[in-house]
Amino acid sequence: MMVSRRLYWTLWMLSCFGQYSGQDLQFPEPANGAVGESVVLAPVNPPSTSIITTHWAFTSTIIISVASGVTTVNPAYKDRVSFDINTLALELQNLTLGDSGIYTLSVTLAAGETLTGETSLQVFEKISNVRLIGPEELLIEGNSSANITSEGTGIITSVEWMKDNSPLSPSNRIIFSPDNRSVSISPVQRSDSGEYQCTYRNPASSETAKHSLIINYGPENVSIEGPEVVDLGVPVSLSCSANSVPSASFIWRFNGTDTGVTTDTFTIDETDFTHSGDYECTASNSVTNSSASQRHALLVKPSDGGGGGLTTGAIAGIVIGVLVAVAGICGLIFYLVKTKKIPMLNKEQKGKSSEASATAAAAQSKQEPESNYEEIIDIQKIRRDGAVPVNESIYENEENEYENVNVKY
Ligand SMILES: *[C@@H]1O[C@H](CO)[C@@H](O)[C@H](O)[C@H]1NC(C)=O
Ligand SMILES: *[C@@H]1O[C@H](CO)[C@@H](O)[C@H](O)[C@H]1NC(C)=O
Ligand SMILES: *[C@@H]1O[C@H](CO)[C@@H](O)[C@H](O)[C@H]1NC(C)=O
Ligand SMILES: *[C@@H]1O[C@H](CO)[C@@H](O)[C@H](O)[C@H]1NC(C)=O
Ligand SMILES: *[C@@H]1O[C@H](CO)[C@@H](O)[C@H](O)[C@H]1NC(C)=O
Ligand SMILES: *[C@@H]1O[C@H](CO)[C@@H](O)[C@H](O)[C@H]1NC(C)=O
Ligand SMILES: *[C@@H]1O[C@H](CO)[C@@H](O)[C@H](O)[C@H]1NC(C)=O
Repeated sequence: MMVSRRLYWTLWMLSCFGQYSGQDLQFPEPANGAVGESVVLAPVNPPSTSIITTHWAFTSTIIISVASGVTTVNPAYKDRVSFDINTLALELQNLTLGDSGIYTLSVTLAAGETLTGETSLQVFEKISNVRLIGPEELLIEGNSSANITSEGTGIITSVEWMKDNSPLSPSNRIIFSPDNRSVSISPVQRSDSGEYQCTYRNPASSETAKHSLIINYGPENVSIEGPEVVDLGVPVSLSCSANSVPSASFIWRFNGTDTGVTTDTFTIDETDFTHSGDYECTASNSVTNSSASQRHALLVKPSDGGGGGLTTGAIAGIVIGVLVAVAGICGLIFYLVKTKKIPMLNKEQKGKSSEASATAAAAQSKQEPESNYEEIIDIQKIRRDGAVPVNESIYENEENEYENVNVKY
């Protein structure tokens, strides 16, 4: 590779020298070709006056010469060159690596003047069999690292990496090898998922190979979509979702008991009160071996009798029923008034109020101990006057008893 690169630059320098050293016939930039393909070498300023002879040479070998309308081709180039008498362009087909070198064009004009020009050709081995070799194991976000290595044959002058059709830039996680032929990603993140493209180039050819990476992660952000309060007797579905690669599998529990449902949606055809409770969805990822859960409370409430669901017939029935009841109550009141049952009721109420006053009197009688105390005070006053009360109390004081004894003696 070093040798061919040096040769390439040498040829390029020579051709520059040729172009800017007062050559009569000018060529565009040095030509590049790929092995097996073809290339056209043509001056940009072919003479406009008539030409007597034309020679195309490779180093010192004449390839083709045209004199007085007669074309002679070197047998070594038979069947793989063509020449355009008007543009003086030489096309070389079936290029080989040996075709690299300096090509000289010289023409003799009718006036006897001779014009010359030089150009160079670099033939590159065509790039082929480019392929990428990526990790074979499953990659887990945050834990795995991934190396993608490229291979291919041919002279490679550059290696370019793209991811999902944008240039892949190095970062603290994405590191290219010094020759850019492999890239190492560590640790992988979910954003590294995608298609990696590696292009090998040389001036004459290029080839691209592709490799896809899938980064596994999750489950995360498990959520349950569905109503929280539902009427009795309606269908309900609770839908569980999670961010997960690969897709999560689900398990549903109700009030802590496994339901056997393993789809993302838990369906109730017709609610009854036993469906109220706590629903838990657990999402699991079979590659990361992790799982996450979310809970959802569902309440089945009695459907309200008051409105929307009633037919007009039912509403009419209710209205008639109410009217009949009102009429019945009116009729009853009329009957009671006519038969004087209502005045009698009033008397009964008066009787009840006299009972109430008796109760009040009973309440007053509880205050009698007070009046008894007053009587005792009266008795004590009498004793100080020397009179002996008829009904002596056991609880009389000793002084009084002594007096009483004296009186007896
Ligand atoms: C080009 O080369 C291939 C084999 O390398 C040969 O089969 C083919 O005939 C050649 N073509 C010309 C025009 O020489
Ligand atoms: C990736 O390549 C680097 C260096 O090229 C190497 O140290 C590392 O072990 C490789 N990692 C894997 C997963 O192959
Ligand atoms: C590797 O690629 C980067 C751009 O992606 C470039 O700047 C660098 O020169 C390349 N290195 C080699 C050795 O090709
Ligand atoms: C998902 O979960 C991650 C953490 O696990 C959080 O950072 C992110 O904000 C969540 N995304 C949404 C849309 O809730
Ligand atoms: C489920 O749990 C809720 C609240 O914890 C309870 O009200 C309900 O009766 C339970 N249902 C069943 C069927 O166990
Ligand atoms: C997940 O579990 C399976 C079986 O238990 C095991 O083979 C696999 O290595 C585990 N994967 C990870 C990433 O731990
Ligand atoms: C990630 O790596 C850590 C440490 O190496 C390990 O403990 C953990 O189980 C790994 N997680 C997964 C999902 O493989």
